[in-house]
Amino acid sequence: PGKEPCTAMRIILAAPRGFCAGVNMAIESLDLAIQAFGTPVYVYHEIVHNKYVVETFRDKGAVFVNHLEDVPTGSTLLFSAHGVSPAIRQLAKDRQLRAIDATCPLVTKVHLEAIRFAKEEYTIFLIGHEGHDEVIGTMGEAPAAIILVETEEDINALNFPDDAKLAYLTQTTLSVDDANRIIRCLKARFPQIIGPPKEDICYATTNRQEAVRTLAAEADLVLVLGSQNSSNSQRLRELATEHGVKAYLIDGQADVDDAWFEGVENVVITAGASAPESVVQECVEYLREHFQATVEVRTLRLEDVHFPLPRELRGLSISKA
Ligand code: F3S
Repeated sequence: PGKEPCTAMRIILAAPRGFCAGVNMAIESLDLAIQAFGTPVYVYHEIVHNKYVVETFRDKGAVFVNHLEDVPTGSTLLFSAHGVSPAIRQLAKDRQLRAIDATCPLVTKVHLEAIRFAKEEYTIFLIGHEGHDEVIGTMGEAPAAIILVETEEDINALNFPDDAKLAYLTQTTLSVDDANRIIRCLKARFPQIIGPPKEDICYATTNRQEAVRTLAAEADLVLVLGSQNSSNSQRLRELATEHGVKAYLIDGQADVDDAWFEGVENVVITAGASAPESVVQECVEYLREHFQATVEVRTLRLEDVHFPLPRELRGLSISKA
């Protein structure tokens, strides 16, 4: 018998997607801190940039603050995955808080590079997004030595002699392509500039972007699960758009608009490093039910990265309720 032309929707589920090792560690840390020390556990900034994760923890008794003045003396305080400046660490000490440091080790790596370059009297260009928690934390390590560079245009405004000691670092969650463009531009302008021994953009950012770059060719539409304030999620949406594919960044299935899928056959679904798999699966289920979509998982790379719990929590065990 002749086959019916197949026009059903196909979901191409990108892998790797979603939680990275740093986010897994930060979430496990907060769960463990709540269990071990009771509520409230205060968290400096959002634990990770994801609305769903933050709301879930709020329900469990976490209190998110932007100022340590809002944390009562003696309380338990967790530093989020994005890291903090030394001034914030000191303030936590002064307020006699029990501080737990859930900074991602790959963010700490950038902090240590900043400290080393600053000690060696380099001027450091930090390529990153102004106002992002991670950038604020990194710049706080050596405020007098670090200059933020966001765009190629920013480089035109920089004036340094040929023998100036210059170095660059980057935020961990940038667009790999944009960062490379800016680094090339910095090197052209200041040939003496040096960089980190190994790039600062983390493995999770790189791998999620690589998957979208590869799969975009087959997509009519890309859905990125993640929150609007998540840098690496925004970069995934941008990347798809740069490849000429319509793309939406959504927190979950409730943000889906059926009109997006008119005439669409191939939908690539991915998720930023702070978006839980449950929101991905809810979306997949919705498209299966409403559009009879079939699902195909496409794994571009395997990840096997784990980070240890913060020092302050080691030895405590977590019950996975
Ligand atoms: Fe760390 Fe990269 Fe995740 S810096 S928190 S592994 S996105």
